[in-house]
Amino acid sequence: MREKRFVYMDHAATTFTKPEVIEAMLPFLKKHFGNPSSLYSIGREGKEAVENAREQLAKALGANPEEIYFTSGGTESDNWAIKGTAFARRKKGKHIITTPIEHHAVLYPCEYLETQGFDVTYLPVDRYGLVDPAEVEAAIREDTILISVMYANNEIGTIEPIPEIGKIAKEYGIPFHTDAVQVIGKISLNMEKKDRNVDMLSLSSHKFYGPKGVGALYLREGTEIDNYMHGGGQERNKRAGTENVAGIVGLGKAIELATPMLEEHNVKMRKMRDRLLAGILEIPSCRLNGHPEKRLSDNLNFSFEYIEGESLLLMLDAMGICSSTGSACSSGSLDPSHVLRAIGLPPEIAQGSLRLTLGDENSEEDIDYVLEVLPETVEKLRAMSPFYKPETACKK
Ligand SMILES: Cc1ncc(COP(=O)(O)O)c(C=O)c1O
Repeated sequence: MREKRFVYMDHAATTFTKPEVIEAMLPFLKKHFGNPSSLYSIGREGKEAVENAREQLAKALGANPEEIYFTSGGTESDNWAIKGTAFARRKKGKHIITTPIEHHAVLYPCEYLETQGFDVTYLPVDRYGLVDPAEVEAAIREDTILISVMYANNEIGTIEPIPEIGKIAKEYGIPFHTDAVQVIGKISLNMEKKDRNVDMLSLSSHKFYGPKGVGALYLREGTEIDNYMHGGGQERNKRAGTENVAGIVGLGKAIELATPMLEEHNVKMRKMRDRLLAGILEIPSCRLNGHPEKRLSDNLNFSFEYIEGESLLLMLDAMGICSSTGSACSSGSLDPSHVLRAIGLPPEIAQGSLRLTLGDENSEEDIDYVLEVLPETVEKLRAMSPFYKPETACKK
């Protein structure tokens, strides 16, 4: 009998919090609990810790600490960038350019803005989910006030040509936002060099082994943006609310740990990912979603014909494997993923999708285990399907 393992392969949904990160956070939950706005010592200690984390993050991004604003996570950062820019610049125009494969934290603010008289262009993407910079340029109008394109997609892992799109945005003088939630610790960013044309960048700590409920918005100096949270004068009067000191300290520690390990991490992820990919593609009637090369080192997304993704996910869970179908945020709904639909998959194929995202604690033994369990689970489910005929199954 095969021994059941616990294999967590849903790191795009969230990662575990590293022990070093928890260690760094604990003093700010136990001892230095003061409000960072208070003038006495336990308050000042909190304030210093927040400023230290700001420096850690700025260093990792090649940015100035004054350009970093802590938020409650990726969703808030995206909402702030999109709505804050739209409202600050609405006298100049009401046109926004984005893509149909963004996370809902970008798409839904855009939809909300449409109800407020803004006009949004959703650029086409190719079958891999790639945005063509020429399409961005073609969509620009006199009244365009914002371009927002994600750095890499959370479902299919495709990496977008952000420096190229940024260059176009700069030429036309249009603020450029990118949701980089999935790329921290995987793609090296440099706001002064490669990413110098990005004006706003969202990130979230729980995607790189930090705590949940804390993130940041990078705002290039001089970027025109309205406040999103109104209240106290925290974050240099730009983001009100008592700082999540322990969370911010955790974010700082997590980025400090991730940055020097980036290359090593990618090498390890790619090795495991490519073995997993080759093994899974042996399963008949299965295809890889997303770009074969321009993709995150830890992401795999497949569609299995004649299979319902939710059933596959639940059967894998029973075998100890945590995976995802569509994005974590939309699981619970049976609608096919908007990303898979945007790359042209018919609903019945999009329904049979499985995302496996690797992380630090995965091992070659985990890959062996998934390669044993997944093919037989797919076979079991197909055996129940009235439509599946093994003789028509194709290898892709
Ligand atoms: C690309 C992307 N943007 C935004 C978010 C939202 O981030 P948070 O969970 O920190 O609100 C996620 C989370 O899955 C994401 O993957």
